[in-house]
Amino acid sequence: MNVDLRGRTIHGSEAKNMQDASPKRMIIGISGASGVTYGVRLLQLLRNAGVETHLVMSKTAEQTFAYETDLKIAEVRALANVNHGIDDMASAISSGSFRTAGMIVAPCSMRSMSEIASGVTTTLLTRAADVVLKERRRLVLMVRETPLHTGHLRTMTALSEMGAIIAPPVPAFYAKPENLEDMIEHTVGRVLDLYDIDIGVVRRWGEDEALKRRSPSLRKIAP
Ligand SMILES: Cc1cc2nc3c(=O)[nH]c(=O)nc-3n(C[C@H](O)[C@H](O)[C@H](O)COP(=O)(O)O)c2cc1C
Repeated sequence: MNVDLRGRTIHGSEAKNMQDASPKRMIIGISGASGVTYGVRLLQLLRNAGVETHLVMSKTAEQTFAYETDLKIAEVRALANVNHGIDDMASAISSGSFRTAGMIVAPCSMRSMSEIASGVTTTLLTRAADVVLKERRRLVLMVRETPLHTGHLRTMTALSEMGAIIAPPVPAFYAKPENLEDMIEHTVGRVLDLYDIDIGVVRRWGEDEALKRRSPSLRKIAP
């Protein structure tokens, strides 16, 4: 049942319009930082969760894919429901009138991060992020660089003050990852928590008793 702000029950097309107001539609940006696999895993998990994904990938991301994975760009694009060209400023995600649940940039380079913070956006990826911010929708930036200089840190603070969530991909060892795949899934699963999307891959402290036991794999490297 749909109810309006005054508590009245709404029927028919008006009710449908209200349902459409919170679409399960997510923008995924993949920039040219290390860790493009995070974006891939997000696309796969969101597809399984029935979320409509809109992908925008920077030109350098395509290069990074070649260095870090065996995936062809066409295979990555095939994971998204809709692909948007990085230079296509007339694309749907360039406008706030196109409703989404928000955007995740995974991974987010220092270059794209800085553009988003400045508002001087030269690509569709950074323009879409700017739109998500101005519409007060959820923007999560999986920023990837290390070490960080003061300019990077100040930019992250500015973005956080603007409403973005800075979520660097930092592995949680308490989740007892057995391989890289486990680490990636836990990290992107925690990012999806920020959108109330639970795809069942996060081992949760306080809910999973096995997490509190000592890990044999970590004992192996102890002195
Ligand atoms: C293999 C590879 C790894 C890179 N890793 C990072 C990184 O972790 N963080 C970063 O900010 N830039 C990284 N870069 C540099 C960015 O790709 C570069 O700054 C680029 O201009 C980013 O543009 P984009 O944000 O439009 O993708 C990397 C480049 C390559 C080729």
